[in-house]
Amino acid sequence: MTHRLKLAPSIIAADFARLAAQVHEAEAAGADWLHVDVMDGHFVPNITIGPFIVETLHMITRLPLDVHLMIAEPDRYIEDFVQAGAHTLTVHVEAAAHLHRTIARIKDSGVRAGVALNPATPPSVLEEVLPELDLVLVMSVNPGFSGQQFIKASTYKVERVRRMLNMIGSRADLEVDGGVNASNAATLVEAGANVLVAASAVFNPHTSIAANLHRLREAGAG
Ligand code: DX5
Ligand code: ZN
Repeated sequence: MTHRLKLAPSIIAADFARLAAQVHEAEAAGADWLHVDVMDGHFVPNITIGPFIVETLHMITRLPLDVHLMIAEPDRYIEDFVQAGAHTLTVHVEAAAHLHRTIARIKDSGVRAGVALNPATPPSVLEEVLPELDLVLVMSVNPGFSGQQFIKASTYKVERVRRMLNMIGSRADLEVDGGVNASNAATLVEAGANVLVAASAVFNPHTSIAANLHRLREAGAG
């Protein structure tokens, strides 16, 4: 199954003093989604943003908000992020004790449900819930910070998840997040990814957001 490649710039590396301008620049340059990294200082060491910023983003952009919850007990916040305007809510399998129920809650709230896998988590944990999912996120760094180095074994994990999705005829998105840039985009797309998240490769004080997105799209097109 071939999907059109989607680019989901993550605002975690944006200049927050100029957040609206940077989001508009990404939107005008053809970003498909806006990736929002929510960190709680508990599931991951860093603390970033909450529903309030998601609500603000929802007001200033038409881009679908791809909300990546790197938080413990994600069920507690599903409703808040849905209300704030999330388009997709992705939870970590490592953070959800009752993943099946969490996925059902997300879908019942009317948004798309995604599940993320840390680098040490095998794709086999998805088997029982895969038919329910709208998105699988393969983490290619240990979540917590932007600007980390891509873990090479992630490409093989993407291949395996793509095979699992094909086997059940799922049309779920397969997204890769962490250390994605123009030099690994083609390999990841070839492995079966159809959504690339990139923070530092897009939001960078020295180069233009448009040029960076263009470079990533060209690279991903192979
Ligand atoms: C990982 C986050 C990412 C990440 C991406 O903690 O989920 O979205 O910050 O940053 P780059 O693209 O700079 O690796
Ligand atoms: Zn992310």
